[in-house]
Amino acid sequence: MATLSELLRDRAHVPEAVVDHLQRLVGSWGILSDLSFSDLLLFVPLADEGCRFLVVGQVRPTTSQTLHLEDLLGQEVGEDDRPLLSRAWGLGSVVEGEMAVASRGERARVVCIPVRYDGEVVAVMTREAPLVVGRRPGELERVYVSVFDRMARMVTAGSFPFPVDEPLSSEAPRVGDGVMTLDAAGRVEFASPNAVNAMHRLGVYRGILGASLEELGLERSPVPVALKEKVPHSEELELGDVAVFIRCIPLVDQARAVGALVLVRDVTDIRRLDRLLLGKDVAIREVHHRVKNNLQTISSLLRLQARRLPRGDARHALEEAERRVRSIAVVHEILSRDTTDEVDFNEILPSLARMAEDLSTTSSPVRVSWSGEPGEMGAQVATPLAVALNELLQNAVEHAFLGPDYLEGRRRAEVHVSFERRGDELHVEVRDNGTGLPPGFSVDETTSLGLSIVRGLVNSQLGGSIKMRVDGGTVVDMVVTVSESDRVDLAHI
Ligand SMILES: Nc1ncnc2c1ncn2[C@@H]1O[C@H](COP(=O)(O)OP(=O)(O)O)[C@@H](O)[C@H]1O
Ligand SMILES: [Mg+2]
Repeated sequence: MATLSELLRDRAHVPEAVVDHLQRLVGSWGILSDLSFSDLLLFVPLADEGCRFLVVGQVRPTTSQTLHLEDLLGQEVGEDDRPLLSRAWGLGSVVEGEMAVASRGERARVVCIPVRYDGEVVAVMTREAPLVVGRRPGELERVYVSVFDRMARMVTAGSFPFPVDEPLSSEAPRVGDGVMTLDAAGRVEFASPNAVNAMHRLGVYRGILGASLEELGLERSPVPVALKEKVPHSEELELGDVAVFIRCIPLVDQARAVGALVLVRDVTDIRRLDRLLLGKDVAIREVHHRVKNNLQTISSLLRLQARRLPRGDARHALEEAERRVRSIAVVHEILSRDTTDEVDFNEILPSLARMAEDLSTTSSPVRVSWSGEPGEMGAQVATPLAVALNELLQNAVEHAFLGPDYLEGRRRAEVHVSFERRGDELHVEVRDNGTGLPPGFSVDETTSLGLSIVRGLVNSQLGGSIKMRVDGGTVVDMVVTVSESDRVDLAHI
């Protein structure tokens, strides 16, 4: 499907400045469609084809039923199909009439409104609605349609769309939310029931008609700016917990603001949800940040203590403990940065690898590399997995490369971790090119602390299994379940 600008440029050869104007019209004409309870179509003449036109825009009202169920964008029409269209184009003024709508087998009312840009008619916008409309027009309908008529005159005069777009969020009020009309001095002439409700919520209970929003006590009313600058202006007003979005669109006639359309929407509930979500998100991240800081403090204390001991078992034990704490801190560091509670394990790997490489005693540092996709996982999986992987990497660096070939640099010491995700299972292989395991070694039977921690975490926290074998160097095969599990619990070790 071609976009509006493609249709305009490629099929109708419309100049760039006009494309821009028509794009702005189509960007803001939802209000016109809603105010007129009608479908709107936008036509441009096809270059060098006499009286043929191309449909370049179509919008349906959210306040009423639609006339055209089919997508008309990109269709071509001729003089015979739509005689009113070429009359309006030729005359440069509004032409009204009736038309048969073949697809519905009924007649429709059509108003053809020339679109002017820089003094020239560049397109025709049509307002089309079934002759028999479901709702009986009351005051609200009459006011809406009269505002539409005034805005349609602005379209023909070239003062709508406005020269600059107002960036609007999806929360900006629409016609269905609440409408007020103002006179040239900014005094309220009409307020729809929804608009009256919104004013009540802002503490304004009576005397709305005939007063300006400023007189009604609304500070930061968008009206004065909109009337003075003759461009739309919005403000979000708050009273206690209540938030109301007010958008003021000036009605311009011969370069003077002669009135305004004000759309209001009570956005209190949206704001409350925003605040809740934001607050919760920020709080969770803050907690992770503090946990990380505390773990780093513990790890520094252990390091300080280790430095005061002579080389030996006690010092080594403290250094290992320090690294274990640090491997947990890495996970919280990642969690404090992200807005989700899922961790991409890829982000944890560089820190774990660096911690292991820093332990090297070989002449050139042990190289730790990884491949495959560990993917995303919850903190309850990432934390024990980081601790386990840290142990395995430390072991490889500490125990695999003790031979003279490595120590003196004749062989490169390497550790490679590969990941493979199979549904809920994550397969992790840690492979080194070292001297292999001691004779008679069994991972299921060893009572040493490091591997006991790994075994405990893998079997209970990670719902998986671990095997160790020799193939060149040592190969550790670990399978873990990457779904919900309990909190980290080391009690069973
Ligand atoms: N990648 C490896 N290469 C060679 N030996 C290893 C490897 N991983 C573990 N080992 C052996 O397993 C033993 C137990 O490891 P571990 O439980 O972590 O205790 P620690 O590291 O404190 O000795 C180590 O002492 C070592 O002999
Ligand atoms: Mg160890």
